[in-house]
Amino acid sequence: MLTNLVVNAIHAMPDGGTVEISTRHAEQVPPPYVEGGTSSWMAIEVRDTGVGMDDATRERIFEPFFTTKQVGEGTGLGLSVTWGIVREHHGWIDVQSTLGHGSTFTVYLPIDTLVAPALAGVA
Ligand SMILES: Nc1ncnc2c1ncn2[C@@H]1O[C@H](COP(=O)(O)OP(=O)(O)O)[C@@H](O)[C@H]1O
Ligand SMILES: [Mg+2]
Repeated sequence: MLTNLVVNAIHAMPDGGTVEISTRHAEQVPPPYVEGGTSSWMAIEVRDTGVGMDDATRERIFEPFFTTKQVGEGTGLGLSVTWGIVREHHGWIDVQSTLGHGSTFTVYLPIDTLVAPALAGVA
């Protein structure tokens, strides 16, 4: 998941730039398709200072085989696979992007289901 996001970030910065990975705790309502009210999430952000995306591109990036890269450079599968992995863990991915300035992909994973098995192991 992180490899896909970081490789994309690097591809988005052909002239160099910065990729930043950070984590934070988020207390918020998930999008409707995730279901549930306000709850605890681990937010993992991958931020780049790359080319960014226009709205039309951003709307399609999680589609299988959607790519803006040359044949041989991209399969268009990275983000659809990443999306699938995150959804299987009952999370979601938020994308903020400004054309010409960069993008931030934020993966939200539920803290309750992450922590509960770990605590069960300790008890
Ligand atoms: N960090 C990013 N900055 C700009 N565009 C991105 C970024 N990550 C993904 N994209 C866009 O999303 C498309 C799909 O990404 P992905 O599913 O990983 O396939 P691929 O990398 O093989 O093209 C990319 O072709 C690109 O247009
Ligand atoms: Mg990719």
